[in-house]
Amino acid sequence: MMSGIMKHLTTLLLLLSALVLLIMATTSHGAIPKSTLKMVEEVNKQGPFLGLVVPNSFEMSPLLQSKSFVQNKKLPYLDIGGRRFHLGKIGKDKLIMVMTGLSMLNAGLATQLLLSLFEIKGVVHFGIAGNANPELQIGDVTIPQYWAHTGLWSWQRYGNGPQNELPLEAGGDFTRKYGYLNISYYSTNKIDKSSENFLNNVWYQPEEIFPVNDVPEVREHAFWVPVDEKYFALSKQLEGTKLPKCANSTTCLPRNPKVVRVDRGCSANTFVDNAAYRQFLRSKFDVTPVDMESAAVALVCRQLEKPFVAIRSLSDLAGGGSAQSNEADVFAPLAAQNAVDVVLKFLTLLTS
Ligand SMILES: *[C@@H]1O[C@H](CO)[C@@H](O)[C@H](O)[C@H]1NC(C)=O
Ligand SMILES: *[C@@H]1O[C@H](CO)[C@@H](O)[C@H](O)[C@H]1NC(C)=O
Repeated sequence: MMSGIMKHLTTLLLLLSALVLLIMATTSHGAIPKSTLKMVEEVNKQGPFLGLVVPNSFEMSPLLQSKSFVQNKKLPYLDIGGRRFHLGKIGKDKLIMVMTGLSMLNAGLATQLLLSLFEIKGVVHFGIAGNANPELQIGDVTIPQYWAHTGLWSWQRYGNGPQNELPLEAGGDFTRKYGYLNISYYSTNKIDKSSENFLNNVWYQPEEIFPVNDVPEVREHAFWVPVDEKYFALSKQLEGTKLPKCANSTTCLPRNPKVVRVDRGCSANTFVDNAAYRQFLRSKFDVTPVDMESAAVALVCRQLEKPFVAIRSLSDLAGGGSAQSNEADVFAPLAAQNAVDVVLKFLTLLTS
């Protein structure tokens, strides 16, 4: 009897420990496996590479499908940390391309992974964006000189105003330098100018950054992050690029899209489909493209001291279009293609 129970218990214990071992073997910790690091080392022997960073597959596909892109035969890609690093060539440029996924966190960490693992000489970021500039149209491709993250806020308590210091401002954490959005007269039913609510002001804050060659744990601040001077100068030659104006045989834009260098773009974890906020961003910050990733890529490149430029085509009016014509749906593929066409041209300029 007793030994029968013992036998069952032993079997149970054995099964349990096997299960524990199995779980330990399959639960990977975040560290990159040695075998993968070996391959990274092999890849880097072929470097340096140009890094291409793109938010999603809709924006990446036209590049992967382009005749100019030649996939690396031996190793078309390496998968690391939930990201796929595509290896290939465009003309003479050896490159590694990574898709980040939506928004600032994804864009930042995918860029950091790319730059920490691989020998990258510079980063070209591309995709589509909302447009806050009434002088431009859908399909136009923009190359801003500065990017800011406009989603880091200090939300001010009711009763205080521009004359009042913000919390943590004295310690240098926050600042009133970049201005605020006064949403005090926001109303959930109708605009009633006479009845203010408690929402007050949100103040735009710079990011805390830790550049690679500066003292660790000593923060610096960055709001407007410039793109690489040389890349920006080079991109002047992109202006005048001919781009198609029709989504199909019947649906066309009023004019051919153009490539323009602009002053500023901004990013935040907010999809802006709102004309009032779009106009605010334009009047406050003088931005043209409004997206959800570029500033994150810019901030990481700034910290790792890598040349960076972003090429963003305008796919919609960020809530400023007419409600009837859903311009984004119709012209987004054209915009995604335009961004890729301009990136390809930029790469040829880089190596020529
Ligand atoms: C916010 O806007 C309202 C309406 O224009 C104005 O009366 C108020 O003074 C503003 N508040 C601040 C803090 O700027
Ligand atoms: C062109 O695109 C528009 C908008 O998507 C669509 O309504 C129309 O049917 C398309 N025309 C052709 C010829 O495919």
